[in-house]
Amino acid sequence: AGCAIVTMICAYLLGSLSFAIIVCKLTLGRDIRDYGSGNAGLTNAYRTMGGAKTGLVLLGDLAKAAAALSIGGALLGPGGKLLAGAFVILGHVYPLYFGFRGGKGVLVGAMTLLLFDWRIFLVALGLFIIAVALTRWVSLGSILGAISFPFTMYYFYRSPLYTVVAVILSGAVIYLHRSNIKRILAGKENKFTLHGKPQI
Ligand code: G3P
Repeated sequence: AGCAIVTMICAYLLGSLSFAIIVCKLTLGRDIRDYGSGNAGLTNAYRTMGGAKTGLVLLGDLAKAAAALSIGGALLGPGGKLLAGAFVILGHVYPLYFGFRGGKGVLVGAMTLLLFDWRIFLVALGLFIIAVALTRWVSLGSILGAISFPFTMYYFYRSPLYTVVAVILSGAVIYLHRSNIKRILAGKENKFTLHGKPQI
């Protein structure tokens, strides 16, 4: 139980390091949550701050997820990676240091899938790429990737516990996209563009 508690606390504290917020504060002196979709995540970093700063956000958020999962994996094995992934997502979405308003957990969730089982990651990534290529709605890609997770988890592991964890994480990521879903249904969701002008 000690190892599980250490894993959860470390992962939550690491997840709370929201690099979209940190990079925006340090380089522009602003709060990214006041711009674009208001989300403290990679998509909104690109939308509002452009490519170079988004690269920093990407590195930081991937590194924190990798660090958390390696702690969980070292202490508890594969189950520990899942536990760490869940708490790194929790920290990223409800960051301790930033008023509990963070991102939607997609990038750190994807990193969790990759480090847990690359096959599960590839299915989610494939759906993400197809959806974004066809619609240019990053959120739709994220939602479809999240939906695939419980199914691929069950398919590859047949573990009730792992599948329940996957359902909870997938459901959480979808729930966090509820404003995106409303915009998609209204045909008003932001379309991703590589060459947009940074908004800040
Ligand atoms: O990673 C979150 C993405 O799925 C949507 O981001 O900023 O368009 O709400 P955003």
